[in-house]
Amino acid sequence: MLCLIAVAMLGCGNSGLPGASSQQHSVDNKTGKVKRNFDQAQIKRGESVYNTYCIGCHGPNGAATPEWRKPGADGKYPPPPLDSTAHAWHHSTEVLKKTILKGTPPEIGSMPAWEGKLTEQQVDDVIVWIKSLWSDEIYDVWFKNFEGK
Ligand code: HEC
Repeated sequence: MLCLIAVAMLGCGNSGLPGASSQQHSVDNKTGKVKRNFDQAQIKRGESVYNTYCIGCHGPNGAATPEWRKPGADGKYPPPPLDSTAHAWHHSTEVLKKTILKGTPPEIGSMPAWEGKLTEQQVDDVIVWIKSLWSDEIYDVWFKNFEGK
């Protein structure tokens, strides 16, 4: 009975609706484009994770390195931009998360592993911040490729 009251009062009845991630989105009825309704507080937290741990390589606003297609002298690629201009948006949330947690194998690339250094929440936050950098167009394409099936 207590539970029923709690459900009524807190709107737990919403648990029947699709999960948290779908609440981050809505579809613009006019354009049919998917829009982000990210939690601004989460974007801020993600930005601060980025500015502390990632900016040194990926640059301000995730915009380094302009010449990201050219491997360096060691044959490895420089840190790519994480905004719309490179390929971060070619990856699902899961793959982005795995890349951040595990890094890239040293013989292939120089992305460090963050597992054990960042909490899962910090990783989720920084991914939301990265997605907030993408243009509306790119976000729509990304969503339809990876989440909108
Ligand atoms: C020491 C430099 C360095 C730091 C610090 C660093 N990265 Fe990277 N990152 C790289 C490099 C280099 C690559 C490309 C790896 C490759 O080519 O295999 C990369 C790749 C990535 C990718 C994959 C991008 C894509 O388009 O496939 C993501 C996502 C990413 N980094 C996020 C982060 C986040 C988030 C942080 C901070 C928590 C961070 N990186 C910190 C160097 C760095």
